Amino acid sequence: MASVDLLIVAVAILLPLLWWFRESLPFIGGKPRQSVAGASGAKAGGAGAGGFDDDDDPRDFVGKMEKLGKRAAVFYGTQTGTAEEYAIRLAKEAKSRFGISSLVCDPEEYDFNKLDQIPSDKAVIFVLATYGEGDPTDNAQPLFEFILEENVEFSQGGNTLENLNYVIFGLGNRTYEHFNETARQLDRRLAALGAHRIGERGEGDDDKALEEDYLSWKDGMWEEFSKRLEVEEGGAGDVADFVVTEVAETVAPEKVFHGELSARALVASANKSTTPAGSYDAKNPYPAPVGTSRELFAVSGERNCVHIEFDISGTGISYMHGDHVGVWPSNPDAEVERALAVLGLSEKRHTPIAVESLDPALAKVPFPTPATYESVFRHYLDISSLASRQTIAFLARYAPNEQAKETLTTWGTDREAYHEYVDGPKLKIAEVLQSAARDSLTPPFTNATVWPIPFDRIIGTLPRLQPRYYSISSSSKLNPSSVHVTAVVLKYESGPSKDHADQPRWVYGLSTNFILNVKLASDANGANKGALTNGHAHTGGLAGNEASIRLDGLPSYKISGPRDFHLHDNIYRVPIHIRRSTFRLPTSPKVPIIMIGPGTGVAPFRGFVQERVALARKAKEKGGEEALKDWAPIYLFYGCRREDEDYLYAEEWPEYAKELGGKFQMITAFSRGPNRKPDGSKIYVQDLIWDKRDELAPLILEKRAYIYICGDAKNMARAVEDRLSRMLGEAKGGTAEIQGAKELKLLKERNRFMTDVWS
Ligand SMILES: Cc1cc2nc3c(=O)[nH]c(=O)nc-3n(C[C@H](O)[C@H](O)[C@H](O)COP(=O)(O)OP(=O)(O)OC[C@H]3O[C@@H](n4cnc5c(N)ncnc54)[C@H](O)[C@@H]3O)c2cc1C
Ligand SMILES: NC(=O)c1ccc[n+]([C@@H]2O[C@H](COP(=O)([O-])OP(=O)(O)OC[C@H]3O[C@@H](n4cnc5c(N)ncnc54)[C@H](OP(=O)(O)O)[C@@H]3O)[C@@H](O)[C@H]2O)c1
Ligand SMILES: Cc1cc2nc3c(=O)[nH]c(=O)nc-3n(C[C@H](O)[C@H](O)[C@H](O)COP(=O)(O)O)c2cc1C
Repeated sequence: MASVDLLIVAVAILLPLLWWFRESLPFIGGKPRQSVAGASGAKAGGAGAGGFDDDDDPRDFVGKMEKLGKRAAVFYGTQTGTAEEYAIRLAKEAKSRFGISSLVCDPEEYDFNKLDQIPSDKAVIFVLATYGEGDPTDNAQPLFEFILEENVEFSQGGNTLENLNYVIFGLGNRTYEHFNETARQLDRRLAALGAHRIGERGEGDDDKALEEDYLSWKDGMWEEFSKRLEVEEGGAGDVADFVVTEVAETVAPEKVFHGELSARALVASANKSTTPAGSYDAKNPYPAPVGTSRELFAVSGERNCVHIEFDISGTGISYMHGDHVGVWPSNPDAEVERALAVLGLSEKRHTPIAVESLDPALAKVPFPTPATYESVFRHYLDISSLASRQTIAFLARYAPNEQAKETLTTWGTDREAYHEYVDGPKLKIAEVLQSAARDSLTPPFTNATVWPIPFDRIIGTLPRLQPRYYSISSSSKLNPSSVHVTAVVLKYESGPSKDHADQPRWVYGLSTNFILNVKLASDANGANKGALTNGHAHTGGLAGNEASIRLDGLPSYKISGPRDFHLHDNIYRVPIHIRRSTFRLPTSPKVPIIMIGPGTGVAPFRGFVQERVALARKAKEKGGEEALKDWAPIYLFYGCRREDEDYLYAEEWPEYAKELGGKFQMITAFSRGPNRKPDGSKIYVQDLIWDKRDELAPLILEKRAYIYICGDAKNMARAVEDRLSRMLGEAKGGTAEIQGAKELKLLKERNRFMTDVWS
């Protein structure tokens, strides 16, 4: 189709949609709804009041601050939403402490050349996550490109920022080599340009306690902030960000969101269609039908690893080997019921609410509305992660009685108590409220003490439910119409807690158990019907190998989705979107590749090897068996516990090796198998790399081999990198610390050493 035709089709689809939802999508600029009696909080003079006109430059945040009367702009560099949450928290705290109103901004949407025009009674706050090799997030790239320019020039022709006051908080993880590098780099640069930092630079470590790092940093920073900006504490106190209105009487049922993730998904689900119109991305995920799914571990009952395939045929979705897929889970039934019960909303679960932001520049409505109370808890807010100390301290004011208030205040303010009663047993927010009120945490929750927390405060306090990302484990050349995921199911025991008779509790990962539920329900709908109750996956009589999967306590989810939109013709659908990555093979098969991926780290390498298989098939079609003669070797270092237990895709690798005509070598470390090092310790992938150092080092140093590591960032990736450093250092006649580190740095700069790791 010609691009003009495409445009006409797109406009024809979008205009009716926007008209239909003109009142329900304030976040796309719809008419703000009237505030309604019963909602808490008075309407503040936020964005819109005093107005930013169409004629104004939308990329000029300084002009916007001026016009809207904001004294701070808070920029967040985020990939998965955490930095945005912290940015909003800082903006809210500026308001509640000092009555200061802020703009919360995505840096990608603004130009930074006017930083020199920020007067000294205002401040710019940066909240920045670090990724990759100490890189900024995608949405902070333009900011970094501009500010790091050697000859940076600001709007008034100068190249200094003497008037600028800034605050900086970094989000990172110490298991990565370049801890909080983004925040450090911007801090250094702003200082060099003459700007003044307020307080210390904050550095959060999400491997340990991001929340605690933030809490222990912010009070000192606010103290400095009040001095520098000459503002007094005791501003506006606990202010509402949203107005919530129950709208059952005024909204047509088909316009109510039941968990649909976009306006287009609502049109589709309300019309009983299978898929939303248009193109698919993080703003409009595609409910992908589940194709094949299977258990990859030869389970003895303790661990699961699910292979699941999402059908993308006919959607226009494309992907490349090395890309990630975002999976959008929902919250499990028990947590939804618990949250509704402790807020006294169980009876009103289907009541739709409209939500209006009182200050859209500070807090956008985090989900589409009108939506039912139940859908907010099931699909839109994160009620499944560990409750944060600040949220607990904040909610204490709404306690139903003095004893509960005292308990919550203690847990929210005393680090030790929080650690013992909340962090240790990994309590979720509704569990914390139950626990503080001395209610049972075990369903049913019919007698739960009701906490009179206004719903707008719930929306303002709890984070949005985020998608989880998986390294795609297929190649689009072999599998153009499906995206494969290899997900190890997260289940671990928490620390013991006094409230739980000094016993640990099982904690279940949200998304991986959602995926496991989908897999089990798909089995039940196919080969083994009967394991499914009302669109909920529970336990199932499972066939063959899978009969022994342990299902005790497995959380159940409403996987049939909003309005059962995710179940058609007995096939389940899961909302997904593709995220591009730079984790790629060299184009030429004549370049050697060394892949290191123990455990689920093997996921993208299955895609890489399939990619080379597809290329080999094509080459052989043209040139026969001889076609691969000058191909370079392909190494895959893989590790798991036992060959007969968790060897992922064990049956596939020999097939790939055959097709790759001996160019592919799979080198395996079975850490809990019979083979041990002479000292009795485990053999890991890095030991096998070391054994092959005489073969690998020349390939890297002379034949321009590419190296890839995927999987656990915390221990494995570091240990492998250390060993590579040693190997290259010694091959260069030097040491790991000097020559080895230098070689690895060079390889990284030349994109010949890439990592795809998580912790
Ligand atoms: C780029 C990228 C690629 C990824 N690729 C894959 C992949 O291919 N396959 C795969 O399986 N996963 C992959 N992951 C991980 C995946 O995104 C999820 O984080 C993982 O599946 C867990 O999600 P969940 O919702 O089940 O767990 P959540 O409910 O999100 O729980 C995870 C939380 O539990 C904590 N936690 C975990 N274990 C413990 C423990 N023992 N004690 C205390 N706390 C603990 C973690 O720190 C984390 O905060 C990838 C991650 C990234 C960033
Ligand atoms: N944050 C999350 O939500 C999340 C999700 C998934 C996985 N993870 C983490 O990612 C890691 C991998 O998980 P997985 O289930 O895919 O794999 P896994 O089965 O835990 O580990 C794969 C193999 O790597 C070995 N290994 C352990 N430590 C190593 C080290 N320092 N260097 C090299 N190899 C090492 C293991 O050996 P032994 O076990 O015998 O020592 C095993 O043989 C785990 O640490 C897990 O906790 C985190
Ligand atoms: C793939 C990946 C790479 C990361 N790389 C780094 C890094 O190089 N340095 C660092 O300090 N933290 C690193 N982190 C940790 C993130 O910065 C941290 O999890 C942060 O809270 C994410 O914030 P966000 O949710 O706003 O994107 C990495 C995390 C992931 C998942």
